[in-house]
Amino acid sequence: MQGLCMHAGRVCPAARLPMNPTQLPAWSSLARRTSPARLPEPGSSAQRQARDLTFDAAGLRADLSRHWLERDTLPLLLELAEQAGLPSWRQRLFDGAAVNTSEQRRAWHTALRSDADAGVVAARDRMLALADALRAGSLRGATGAPIDTVVCCGIGGSDLGPRLVTEALGAPSGATRLHCVTNVDPVELSAALAQARPERTLIVAISKSFTTMETLANVRAALRWLHAAGLEPAQQLYAITSAPARAQAFGVPAAQVLDFADWVGGRYSLWSPCGFPIALAHGRQAFEALLAGAAALDAHFLDAPLERNLPVLLGLLGVLYVNFHGLRTRAVFAYAQRLRQLVPYLQQLEMESLGKRVSRDGTPLKFDTGCVLWGDVGTTAQHSVFQFLHQGTQVAPVDFITCAAFERSADERERLLYASALAQADALAGGDAALGATVPAEPWRCPGGRPSSFITFPDFAPHSLGALLALHEHRTFVQSVIWGINAFDQFGVEIGKKLLSQRLPGQ
Ligand code: F6P
Repeated sequence: MQGLCMHAGRVCPAARLPMNPTQLPAWSSLARRTSPARLPEPGSSAQRQARDLTFDAAGLRADLSRHWLERDTLPLLLELAEQAGLPSWRQRLFDGAAVNTSEQRRAWHTALRSDADAGVVAARDRMLALADALRAGSLRGATGAPIDTVVCCGIGGSDLGPRLVTEALGAPSGATRLHCVTNVDPVELSAALAQARPERTLIVAISKSFTTMETLANVRAALRWLHAAGLEPAQQLYAITSAPARAQAFGVPAAQVLDFADWVGGRYSLWSPCGFPIALAHGRQAFEALLAGAAALDAHFLDAPLERNLPVLLGLLGVLYVNFHGLRTRAVFAYAQRLRQLVPYLQQLEMESLGKRVSRDGTPLKFDTGCVLWGDVGTTAQHSVFQFLHQGTQVAPVDFITCAAFERSADERERLLYASALAQADALAGGDAALGATVPAEPWRCPGGRPSSFITFPDFAPHSLGALLALHEHRTFVQSVIWGINAFDQFGVEIGKKLLSQRLPGQ
């Protein structure tokens, strides 16, 4: 069914959608001609070509020279992007077209970091005003005492992105203490409330749907805690949601509901009012700089030619390894402790977006999509999983992500972080031969030939982090377009929610 897509079980017209990439000429060429799984030979023309594979985008830099890109692999991948209609899908994404084809919704996260849409700006301003008031100490609790602690309850995209950025930006600049509670296990909320005074604590429910049972259970427990202290809980309760009616039905006063558009995807929502924890911890200017960084990467993704377009190249590499080399996982190592939440964030972003078994029009797929994303922070992970990466039978492409400023830092430990990431990338690529000296070819030596990307961001300023996270949103989108799948729905997680509500009716 070319040119159609499913919506609520009905077939609906849509832009002409190439549905099956395996029928595209470039896919067939890649399948026939993908070179053996090895890096370009030293001194070969392919290696010289590979040396040119360093790309800049919105302050980010990516060295892609350690990838299985021999001879015409990259040109064929770029042809595949064109044949899959990437430029037109990219334009549809930025135009706010219904790229979420199964729900016939836009996935307009690019608008969240611009002033193009008045509704977006109004929602952002309301959220920032709340953060400003709390940071100024002007928000009062039920007894008139100033609020000095905020407990945010959210899960998945309503927690992972805000938590990552709040931590990556370093120590909070405001006096208000922030606790982000996500798991429904009581220990997390209890630990937060143990550090708070009820009369000075605000509870903020962050939930796009306002139906997530874990979040609502945590909010109810927090309200019981306020009530037990003799307070009127609703006076110290806010909701950030795209379901305002549900929030009010739950008991949140209308004036304390900050709503946003229903086309905001959960895993793409940190730029929306869901980013409240970031603004609370680091201020309005930091949040706006974060948006500006993402907008700068958006401009690169929209305007750079495909062959110099970093999200496009990384997305195409993802397709190359999954579909033409059968590599089912990718490992990500941030060589920066402040990015320790990066892997959980990317796991949701990529695995909830790309873990799909049917194409946009509902046709079951006969090829793999997505990959298992895993990883940790370096250098810690070098002492746990890198043996598998260097000498295991299962090759995993690796993303090394670190701060460029570490390379020449005055602190030897930051220099060690940077040099360690580079050494590991070289070791994966060159194996023991990378040591230079003639190393006896014992079977237990490192074979090398293992692919990796070396990605740096300039510093931990909000602008840099905004660009880094937008890069991953768009590399995810690129893969979805090549595979002809919808990156923006997540019916797979709905079934668990429905079965849970059957097991726990009324909760
Ligand atoms: O994991 C499923 C999911 O719906 C995610 O897409 C979302 O980010 C998360 O649950 C939380 O949903 P909500 O923000 O509606 O509480």
